[in-house]
Amino acid sequence: MQTILIINSKGGSGKTTLATTIASYFAGTNKKTAIMDYDPQGSSLHWLKIRSKGANTIHAADAAAQKGTLMRSLQMYVPGDTEKLIIDAPAGVDGVLLQEMVKKTDYIIIPVAPSAIDIHATACFIKDLLLKGGIRKQKTKVAVVANRVRKTMPIYEPLERFLQVLSLPFLTKISDSDQYILAAEQGTGIFEMDEKDVAKERKEFEPILNWLNPDADQQTTRPENVVNFDRARNGV
Ligand SMILES: Nc1ncnc2c1ncn2[C@@H]1O[C@H](COP(=O)(O)OP(=O)(O)OP(=O)(O)O)[C@@H](O)[C@H]1O
Ligand SMILES: [Mg+2]
Repeated sequence: MQTILIINSKGGSGKTTLATTIASYFAGTNKKTAIMDYDPQGSSLHWLKIRSKGANTIHAADAAAQKGTLMRSLQMYVPGDTEKLIIDAPAGVDGVLLQEMVKKTDYIIIPVAPSAIDIHATACFIKDLLLKGGIRKQKTKVAVVANRVRKTMPIYEPLERFLQVLSLPFLTKISDSDQYILAAEQGTGIFEMDEKDVAKERKEFEPILNWLNPDADQQTTRPENVVNFDRARNGV
């Protein structure tokens, strides 16, 4: 099972949007797919509930209940034959919960919204994640995605430089698009919508899917996929 965690401690950066888009893409390719929602707001689970009856099946796992309760272990159940598990993290997550999520994970995607405040908060979060998140060196792959990008706001350069120093890939820039809002309202995803309406959105999303493609084994040895812990520690 490939486990993909979508996380950023900053609220509203696009975690649920990425989680639901990735899950609906995999479900559409006939992979057994599940979403595990750690957010008490339950946005991903709500999205699953409003999906049309005929839509590709995605299993719902709820990890938001209080840690250590029987209820939580029952609700967190994921079928044994699951091939793709996508974890939607809540905002503000740190400490033990962060480590619990990271421990389950092969791939971590961090969406960032285009504001100086978001970018600064994300850089701090990435440092915390690398130093205290319990990432398995060489095993967990981490990447960043710009989300809700508008043409007039080319403000990601400082973040791109920061990521370069850490050897973390900056996968793509996803536009601010009504199609994502529509998809959220309808319990669907851009890979399930009419291609003529979402061609641009799909093209922008492709680098994420390529990065997640586990068949491209050579990925694991590429230098940009190996986290530079020393530099994070030294406070870049
Ligand atoms: N690329 C996009 N274009 C347009 N709207 C977007 C895009 N990405 C996200 N949104 C919208 O922005 C809002 C916040 O996105 P989302 O819920 O995915 O963020 P989040 O990180 O999960 O938030 P939270 O921290 O509250 O869980 C939602 O209304 C969502 O539909
Ligand atoms: Mg969310």
